[in-house]
Amino acid sequence: MSKKPYYITTPIYYPSGNPHIGHCYTTVACDSIARYRRMQGYDVMFLTGTDEHGQKIEQKAAEKGVTPKQYVDEIVEHFKKLWSYMNISYDRYIRTTDDYHVKSVQAIFKALYDKGYIYKGEYKGKYCTPCESFWTESQLDEDGKCPECHRDVVEAKEEAYFFKMSPFAERIEKLLLETDYLQPKTRATELVNNFIKPGLEDLCVSRTSFKWGIPVPFDDKHIIYVWVDALSNYITALGYANDAYNDYDKFWPADVHMVAKDIMRFHAIIWPAILMALDLPLPKHLAVHGWITFNGQKMSKSIGNVVDPMVLGERYSPDAIRYHILREMALGADSSFSNEIMINRINSDLANDLGNLVSRTVAMVEKYFGGTLPADKKSDPMDDELISMATALRAKVDECMDNTTLNIALAEIFKVISRANKYIDETAPWVLAKDEAQQDRLAEVLYNLTESITIGASLLHSFLPETAEKIVAQLNTTLREFDDLDKFGLYESGTKVTDKPEILFGRLKAEDVMPEVEKIQAVQKAEFEAEQAKLAAVEGKAACGCGAGENAADGADLEPMDVEAKEEITFDDFEKLQFQVGEIVKCEAVAKSKKLLCSQVKIGNQTKQIVSGIRKYYSPEEMVGKKVMVLVNLKPAKLAGVLSEGMLLCAEDAEGNLALLTPEKPMPAGAPIE
Ligand code: MSP
Repeated sequence: MSKKPYYITTPIYYPSGNPHIGHCYTTVACDSIARYRRMQGYDVMFLTGTDEHGQKIEQKAAEKGVTPKQYVDEIVEHFKKLWSYMNISYDRYIRTTDDYHVKSVQAIFKALYDKGYIYKGEYKGKYCTPCESFWTESQLDEDGKCPECHRDVVEAKEEAYFFKMSPFAERIEKLLLETDYLQPKTRATELVNNFIKPGLEDLCVSRTSFKWGIPVPFDDKHIIYVWVDALSNYITALGYANDAYNDYDKFWPADVHMVAKDIMRFHAIIWPAILMALDLPLPKHLAVHGWITFNGQKMSKSIGNVVDPMVLGERYSPDAIRYHILREMALGADSSFSNEIMINRINSDLANDLGNLVSRTVAMVEKYFGGTLPADKKSDPMDDELISMATALRAKVDECMDNTTLNIALAEIFKVISRANKYIDETAPWVLAKDEAQQDRLAEVLYNLTESITIGASLLHSFLPETAEKIVAQLNTTLREFDDLDKFGLYESGTKVTDKPEILFGRLKAEDVMPEVEKIQAVQKAEFEAEQAKLAAVEGKAACGCGAGENAADGADLEPMDVEAKEEITFDDFEKLQFQVGEIVKCEAVAKSKKLLCSQVKIGNQTKQIVSGIRKYYSPEEMVGKKVMVLVNLKPAKLAGVLSEGMLLCAEDAEGNLALLTPEKPMPAGAPIE
């Protein structure tokens, strides 16, 4: 019987700088899903790649004195090296500079033109050069700047091709609101209200202001808009409109496109519209996750807070990084990267729970049975819970994979690992070992452990491939087939475990590691700043490396606001104010206002609704998942007709830039601020 196809994609990354942990986020998650589906027996196509055209690449190459192709070739090598280092099992890597892709994109553009969905017009509007985006007046922020990066826009007028979006508005609205295309679905209303309800505007799909892109096939002074070029990769990589591959019929529509929130709009609105215009089926799901943040901000080259995974890997290991990314990632929400969390997780989950379980078990089999368990065993009701948890684990992980809740899948696996550790304490093999009459029971206890570890490792393999392989190698067995993962008792009696158990994860001392890591990061930051200074000198202005949706917020040269001194207060006055950490679980724009956002903020067991005038600084989607400082006992009041039950604390500089205050280390929602 032929295997069922499964098609999963990451975004294709801009090779405008070397990759960082933020780029690993989607890729590691997709890799885990792809591996899991392969284990389930699917014929998987896992696609990733690079999005290599655009003005920013053209500029960077010119600054370096190389051609754009030479420039991207070098960075693409870094991406590929990183993916191999992180054990990313992609099946295909697309580069938008590949010939077959270029020809297919031209064919797609021509097909849309022939069908009457693309027409030539004149673009008059505001253009943000760093973001390579035109904006209409109504889309600009309140200061008349780019709504994405909040930098100046310029008046621009040029002949351009446009893609008609309005014919698809109704179908897209239904797709978002009435189907399970978008995960998490909570974002659908915000997209519909912000982009579809006000009227879907035609999209400008060609540029004449630069050359590094795919020419419009019938009018080569125009370059095809980079997002039309980029989004098409999902089908051109399968062989759509080209004969480089022949996989389109088998794999399209995609099962999942996974992306971060800043590029959700392109995948939730523009991509479906293009597919509808081409009369092609739509992808089944769009899974949207938050960002990896570092010190409370999106990790991004343009902010200068990037963490290079390969450098980190020298200190930790690729699997430790994978674990941190996956374990902290709640779909839809931001998750912060921190060396402290990483060190804690390595010590508690990986070294203590997992590593100890494996090494203790292998050592006991070696010590008590010379490495080989005897075949005859006895069982005991004391074993039931561990056995039932181990055999039920596959169903739990399955459900999480279907819901893209990879953090919960890992938590379930680690519950079994903890249960197995507890089982060692309960059964006390070292006591059994002293009693001649208990040797069969001792063998059974160790067998149950060996078998539970094999099941756990087999399910862990999709997430931490190297570690899982090391574990089964120590037990001298192989990863269990998917169909056998709900059975108990398949570990072959008589197998000899290794007599040289390897430590899976060494414990780390924060006081040793942190200075080392901080040094590495300081070097990276200095390199970044040197590069920025060079760019600024070349351009005669501050350089902005921001890509699609990247925030450019370098706080280094900002002035604080002049603050008028207020009357002194007593400690009793201060005591009246109740501050707590809150987690934003939902956020939307207030319909009647241009300034206000309405957030649902979880504080301990309660959720408060808080309205704040911060819409020009934060989009509703980037608010979700943030941990913020909240003045909790402010008397409720209505703002623009919406009830507000507290205040989010922010800092502001002289330029009017604003930043939410967030706890400097991870803190639970509800933690008091004193
Ligand atoms: N080239 C476009 C995507 C085209 S897909 C048809 C692009 N490239 S990008 O390199 O700027 O970003 C690619 C993805 O990486 C986006 O989903 C982006 O949000 C994600 N990330 C970049 N920095 C990130 C974090 N700090 N955290 C999580 N994801 C981040 O957009």
